[in-house]
Amino acid sequence: MGAVQKGHPLRIAIASDHAGYHLKNQLRDTLRAEGYQVEDLGADGGKSSDYPDYAVQVAKAVSLGEAERGVLICGTGVGMSLAANRVRGVRAAAVSEPVTARLSREHNDANVVCIGERIVGPEMALDIVRTFLSARFSEGERHVRRIGKITALDRS
Ligand code: RB5
Repeated sequence: MGAVQKGHPLRIAIASDHAGYHLKNQLRDTLRAEGYQVEDLGADGGKSSDYPDYAVQVAKAVSLGEAERGVLICGTGVGMSLAANRVRGVRAAAVSEPVTARLSREHNDANVVCIGERIVGPEMALDIVRTFLSARFSEGERHVRRIGKITALDRS
């Protein structure tokens, strides 16, 4: 994923399954109103659906550089993170509060955040996403080394 240019509105790919549908729509609308470029990759309704089908779409958009960040919502955030992390170059963090959201960027250079609509309320979810989008990777040597070891697992 290339460096985000100053002044360039962050491109965000967002998706959910049925369990995250309402929160996904709320976050999408708020982020658009705040100036982010948000691509909604579904779900398009609350009908039962399979979270890996949506996780892979967001993960591929991030992996291919079509989006700088991904946001995935399911019931818990866990299924989305498990699926998204199978895509090369994706570091998806399942997050329930803003401190972890910030540290997932600063220490882990996470590029996808996964949230559970059944776990966190809409205000907390928005706080998580805003924090995730504004925090920067620290680029500390030890963090770069550790992420390199994660990336190497792609070839294991
Ligand atoms: C759907 O019922 C639920 O299992 C799913 O949204 C997610 O929480 C899985 O991790």
